[in-house]
Amino acid sequence: MLRVLACVSGGGTNLQAMIDAITQGTVRNAQIVGVICNNKNAYALERARNAGIDAICISPKEYADRETFHREFLETVNMKKPDLIVLAGFLVVLPEEMIRTYQNRIINIHPSLIPAFCGKGFYGLKVHEEALKRGVKVTGATVHFVDEGTDTGPIILQKAVAVEADDTPEALQKRVMEQAEWKLLPQAIDLIANGKVKIEDGRVWIKA
Ligand code: GAR
Repeated sequence: MLRVLACVSGGGTNLQAMIDAITQGTVRNAQIVGVICNNKNAYALERARNAGIDAICISPKEYADRETFHREFLETVNMKKPDLIVLAGFLVVLPEEMIRTYQNRIINIHPSLIPAFCGKGFYGLKVHEEALKRGVKVTGATVHFVDEGTDTGPIILQKAVAVEADDTPEALQKRVMEQAEWKLLPQAIDLIANGKVKIEDGRVWIKA
């Protein structure tokens, strides 16, 4: 059983998709052993508690400096002994030591087709605002492994979503979530939990 730890910051709809997929059996051989959230008001915390998952709130604001927060954060992560860490809308930059310790064991969902609309400053609604500004006709979502860069790690899965002429950032965000994110993230976890994902020379191969 793959021990999954989810890190969240906001509404937690991707977390919900993970919980539902595990309950329904579309994700096999995985269990969510904990949820870490940096925002005590996030609805994601309630979703975790409703599902009976241990939820911990740990916010940088409550620590004197970044270093102390990082140490505490990493200790909390280690305590859960995760096989896989899933960043499901987590808006805090990870400690470098954590990225080294959990190399190829941290994945992130991003609401665009990387390498478009990603990197520093591209998160949440901002990604969709920029996609609309640029006038792309297709956008989507990406699940990738996390490395030292921002959204630069090996890509596991991507799914394209059409942009409509009258889209607002909110409407586009909703469509990307419904048509791509909520399917892609559970699918990636299922593939990893069942030994189907291999990384070679910085590229991901999915075994049949
Ligand atoms: C999702 O759209 C996720 O892709 C995005 O934040 C949202 C969280 O929503 N993540 C990023 O932008 C990371 N760069 P949720 O809390 O409802 O899952």
